[in-house]
Amino acid sequence: MNPAAVQPFHAMAISRRAYALEAAGRSVIHMEFGQPSTGAPPLAIAAAHHRLDSEAGGYWESPALVERIAQLYAERHGLAIDPGRIILTNGASPALALAIAALFAPGDRIAFARPGYVAYRNAVLALARVPVEIGTDASTRFQIAASHLEALPDAPQGLILASPANPTGSMIDAPGLAAIAAVAKRRGIRIISDEIYHGLTYDAPAHSMLEFDAEAIVINSFSKYYSMPGWRLGWIVAPPGSTELLRAYIGSLFLTPPTLSQHAAFAAMDETEVLEGYKDTYRRNRAHLIGALPGLGLARIAPPDGAFYAWVDVGDFTDDSMAFCQQLLTDTGIAVAPGIDFDPVDGHRFMRFSFAVSEDRTRLAVDRFAAWLKQR
Ligand SMILES: Cc1ncc(COP(=O)(O)O)c(C=O)c1O
Repeated sequence: MNPAAVQPFHAMAISRRAYALEAAGRSVIHMEFGQPSTGAPPLAIAAAHHRLDSEAGGYWESPALVERIAQLYAERHGLAIDPGRIILTNGASPALALAIAALFAPGDRIAFARPGYVAYRNAVLALARVPVEIGTDASTRFQIAASHLEALPDAPQGLILASPANPTGSMIDAPGLAAIAAVAKRRGIRIISDEIYHGLTYDAPAHSMLEFDAEAIVINSFSKYYSMPGWRLGWIVAPPGSTELLRAYIGSLFLTPPTLSQHAAFAAMDETEVLEGYKDTYRRNRAHLIGALPGLGLARIAPPDGAFYAWVDVGDFTDDSMAFCQQLLTDTGIAVAPGIDFDPVDGHRFMRFSFAVSEDRTRLAVDRFAAWLKQR
């Protein structure tokens, strides 16, 4: 339980270098962060412009947006969620911090998959809770399964799940989620379900953990499907009975999320055609990347059921993913995330591409990567 163990995101170092190279005139392809390159959809931007010109923008939580988010659970999952349980946050990151801070105690053990989103480990450590990493591999699509939870000798107090996940994009199907919920309930493990990549699935739609566990703590945001990462807006679905406590925490730590972002997000939620268009681009990028990599000697790729990532085993080429990614950037201008960000144990032989970029950039990246690998 050492907050000093909070590690920097190594992809940030890659990104800083990538921007320095770009400033020096190099052609760089940014695939290091999981952020859409498209920007907020046009109606969201128009709504923000309008509000900027017409109101002061004080502390505020939009009742209309909260209602609209509740409606999303009815549309996507057939669930009737009381809008009173939906609390707006400044993104999924503060939602996660709030959930950990308000609903778990210092010293509580919180489990999550390895590989997994780097902030899970760091947020748990920063808040003086204890991370429990569950090593996963291709046999469970790099996801946690009920059998992993059964196998833990001491049940942790909490479990963070993500389906689709970062860095793999892989998903847990409905029976898998139901089985996890059943074991978690029996062993007294509280689930935090990070549903930030919902909406971004390429085959079967994602299920909310709320379908299987009415007490689950769900976090989500406008950063991914809605293409609004810089607007810093997300939400938490408070478990029944926890709303007041979570509101007290958010009021004390963050007050309210940005007013302008709430107006914009409300408009974005009905801009389905544009958002599905963004997703179609990711779908084509995914097909191109996943189609090309095996021909380059990189056949071990996690199944990207959703999100916009390819988690690629580059173990035949390197056992130092950071050095590999640095060299790739230096030689080709392709910026990607090293596997060590997501998996401190096996990540030295993995890298993650984010294909939330244009089709042209994806094709160019594949061409440059292919030529580079050929020379190695
Ligand atoms: C799995 C996962 N959860 C949460 C976040 C944080 O997102 P936000 O921008 O909503 O804070 C990210 C960002 O990449 C993510 O990949």
